[in-house]
Amino acid sequence: MGTRLLPATKSIPKELLPIVDKPLIHYIVEELISAGVTEIVLVTHSSKQALENYFDLNFEIEQTLSSKSKYEDLELLRSMQYDNLKVMSVRQAKPLGLGHAILCAEPIIGKESFAVILPDVLIDDISCQLDKDNLAKMIQNHEATGNGQIMVHPVPEELVDQFGIVDIEGADLEEGESANLRFVVEKPAKNDAPSNFSITGRYIFGPALWVELSKTKAGSGGEIQLTDAVQGMLKESHTFDAYHLVGK
Ligand code: G1P
Repeated sequence: MGTRLLPATKSIPKELLPIVDKPLIHYIVEELISAGVTEIVLVTHSSKQALENYFDLNFEIEQTLSSKSKYEDLELLRSMQYDNLKVMSVRQAKPLGLGHAILCAEPIIGKESFAVILPDVLIDDISCQLDKDNLAKMIQNHEATGNGQIMVHPVPEELVDQFGIVDIEGADLEEGESANLRFVVEKPAKNDAPSNFSITGRYIFGPALWVELSKTKAGSGGEIQLTDAVQGMLKESHTFDAYHLVGK
């Protein structure tokens, strides 16, 4: 519901707030395309129709631009009709939490592996080179090992209560490296946090997540938390890697 960004988000979905000249969601879609993703499922809400429209053809605008010979603007809009990309959407009727939102996409995703992207986390320095492209690297790691992937980065200790926090094997983790994930906890108090590595809004899962999510009870903030489902899977011996993002 974008409550942390009120009043800007009172009538505009937070995903459509502009960063310079493009809405936030546009950067996310570019990140996904550069990682080789070809199907995107937006989990949205009845108040966010503008989000679905953003990725649809706007015949009226295109017709007007064409009749006024504004070909540059027309080209700009047409460049957004990406070849080989399907954007679909499902609705989450009630804000019951991130875990619940993801579960809404199960009928479309089914038994495939998939990425979860939280579009309010914007990552800079997105490069098309595989060794620098975080998401592509996480997908590669998943394909090579079968392990779930969770992107992390360090945050100041006084902010750990605003994020999912992870405990990893080994003393430290450099950018671009992965480590075995031991434990995750959603928004712990500073004294209870196992580290200052926070979950950064990019994940890769296999279909086993569906089973876990469907039995995950409301946790932090009274919401069904993805972090709790991951912790449930860790307890059942599923293996995850924490991947340290490259960039900011
Ligand atoms: C969500 C996740 C949290 C993660 C954060 C990243 O929290 O639940 O684990 O660290 O995104 O931004 P939210 O920001 O929705 O409270």
